Amino acid sequence: NEDPRIHGIASSIRVVPNFPKPGIMFQDITTLLLDPQAFKNTVDLFVERYKGKNISVVAGIEARGFIFGPPIALEIGAKFVPLRKPRKLPGEVISEEYVLEYGRDCLEMHIGAVQQGDRALVVDDLVATGGTLCAAINLLERVGADVVECACVIGLPELKSALDG
Ligand code: PRP
Repeated sequence: NEDPRIHGIASSIRVVPNFPKPGIMFQDITTLLLDPQAFKNTVDLFVERYKGKNISVVAGIEARGFIFGPPIALEIGAKFVPLRKPRKLPGEVISEEYVLEYGRDCLEMHIGAVQQGDRALVVDDLVATGGTLCAAINLLERVGADVVECACVIGLPELKSALDG
């Protein structure tokens, strides 16, 4: 009983082996963006899930959360807040470091963009280890927001089976 739109979305995503390094199967959503119906269906599926849930802020994770987050935010009537890589935002920020496979990275958010009591949806293209989403959730919770859910276009099957047990 999977939504019939999911197959078209999944088949529009190109998988590029050994990018950006050997052993990685890169999930390339730029081919999804070339298919207006698949792109619209992707946004619509999230809008149908989140409309009427009283979400006041969509927080998009750099870089590909900036592609899927804004159309969802506009449709559900929420503000859009970019969570950026370090030293990109000009205003005062709070930062959250996270661990990558090799090394560390960091997400930053403008102070004042999200307030206590905001109801947040986090948007990104893909969840792998979940480290990036955790950093995003921490940023939002540190300023008093309630994180309602995280929405990603792609969940890697290895991760899903690990979560399923
Ligand atoms: C990718 C992807 C997610 C993150 C998921 O971004 O777009 O943001 O990795 O991985 P995780 O669940 O293991 O944390 P990437 O690090 O390639 O950064 P970019 O979007 O700036 O290219």
